Amino acid sequence: MHKLLLATMFTITSIMSFAESLSGDVFKSPTCGCCNAWIEHMNNAGFALNGKNTAQLGAIKTQLGIPTSAQSCHSAVINDYVFEGHIPANVVKQFLDNPLPNAIGLSVPGMPVGSPGMEMGNRHDDYAVMVLYKDGSVDEYAFIAK
Ligand code: CU
Ligand code: CU
Repeated sequence: MHKLLLATMFTITSIMSFAESLSGDVFKSPTCGCCNAWIEHMNNAGFALNGKNTAQLGAIKTQLGIPTSAQSCHSAVINDYVFEGHIPANVVKQFLDNPLPNAIGLSVPGMPVGSPGMEMGNRHDDYAVMVLYKDGSVDEYAFIAK
């Protein structure tokens, strides 16, 4: 009986800390609809992200260390890592489970058609998810083909 109670408490605690670690803010322009669609995609996958409208998006991206070449519409901050643009939720999870040394986060530059939040019927561009490093360098992290 005592053992069972402990096990139950442990389960509840791990669920709580798991949920906590998946929350974050998404800096976005108030007029951009695809950002909300991406937030919905992430929250459907178990994240708890809040959209934060801002008129200072460029300054925020610079402050977060996102190179111009890697920029997209919105910038999410989850667990002190940055996630720029329409990154698939499973790729964000994969990175958070095992962050690369010296990485600040991930990015899908631009807004590829068919990426989460950028659905347009059956159209799908192949695209890369890039990893962003502290020194400003960028490397391919994943490639998403149809
Ligand atoms: Cu977008
Ligand atoms: Cu966006």
